[in-house]
Amino acid sequence: MGKKILITGGAGFIGSHVVRLFVNKYPDYRIYNLDKLTYAGNLENLKDVEDRPNYTFIKGDINDAAFLDELFATHRFDGVIHLAAESHVDRSIADPLAFINTNIIGTLNLLNAAKDTWQGDGEGKLFYHVSTDEVYGSLGEEGFFVETTPYDPRSPYSASKASSDHLVRAYHHTYGLPVVISNCSNNYGPNQFPEKLIPLVINNIKHNKPLPIYGDGKYTRDWLWVIDHAEAIELIFHKGKNGETYNIGGNNERKNIELVHTLCDIMDDLLGRPAGTSRQLISFVKDRPGHDRRYAIDAAKLKNELGWEPTISPEEGLRLTAQWYLANEQWLNNVTSGAYQKYYELQYDV
Ligand code: NAD
Ligand code: TYD
Repeated sequence: MGKKILITGGAGFIGSHVVRLFVNKYPDYRIYNLDKLTYAGNLENLKDVEDRPNYTFIKGDINDAAFLDELFATHRFDGVIHLAAESHVDRSIADPLAFINTNIIGTLNLLNAAKDTWQGDGEGKLFYHVSTDEVYGSLGEEGFFVETTPYDPRSPYSASKASSDHLVRAYHHTYGLPVVISNCSNNYGPNQFPEKLIPLVINNIKHNKPLPIYGDGKYTRDWLWVIDHAEAIELIFHKGKNGETYNIGGNNERKNIELVHTLCDIMDDLLGRPAGTSRQLISFVKDRPGHDRRYAIDAAKLKNELGWEPTISPEEGLRLTAQWYLANEQWLNNVTSGAYQKYYELQYDV
């Protein structure tokens, strides 16, 4: 009999790729996807696996401790892969409380439910917490984040994720909960909500709208193809050591303006527009408050201990991403119009 795994946030961007990977690769596991279906959660992301016998969707909120206790008591999961979160830095600046509730209290509720269910018998059990490199703060021109880099979160989003990481480690040390944490760099690929830089730029180019670049555009991120992240999570879930942290990165640093130039050129090519057309849409706008200058991951531990490396080149990944958004116009229209949320209100009576 295979494992029973609860994946939280499985209707979101990264979570949907993790759910698909587990459902396809482990037909003998039972995969439960728990998601509140916020604006960022979309079951269309999982159309291809929704009828599989080893997959179950559960609509629910990790802020509801009583609901979680009952869910764990009913299903007695062997593993939790926790991705549910409020994930957008700009929204955290506008409304920090939602981030504190879901990212901190929601994680605490899950930890309690797992602790109470497993009752100190961690054999074959694991609480996997998916986190971000943003907990480490901001780098200058040089250097990389390693697993021992001191935490220095600087946005409400990264502060809430840092807090949840600390709680996960505290439950390991205090109650012996079997845990792993991974801290990953910026992801990109199919199904990302178009509030984040890459899908926003693709969508705006398509509609000939300005491409908003914060500040001087020289802020740097390390971009990772989302399916490579999902594969790293699957590997760490099975082979990672209890209590350990693993950094995951794309080895693919770009200044925002360079990244947007590349996307403009790819989109001109795909849309059959003369070279240079989309670059004219670039518009420098007011900076994000407290904007972290540079993130860069050293993923040597994951490579040396578990043999993981990113599989596709950035040029290939960005082109595949642009092609996906062009081919999935309906998905993009649904998430940008909010029509899919109305559907869920009717479907789930919320
Ligand atoms: P996302 O915003 O696309 O998806 C989040 C999902 O969580 C959505 O389906 C949403 O409905 C669900 N959710 C939100 N609040 C919930 C609640 N209270 N109860 C149940 N479900 C809830 O996020 P993402 O980009 O896929 O990120 C997933 C995880 O990975 C997050 O924990 C994030 O911090 C982490 N992460 C993201 C990136 C990135 O580049 N996107 C990088 C590193 C780490
Ligand atoms: P984002 O995709 O929001 O991810 P994060 O803030 O978690 O790294 O932003 C990536 C980078 O792009 C970040 O430096 C902010 C910048 N950015 C813009 O310049 N313009 C935009 O419209 C957005 C959304 C982001």
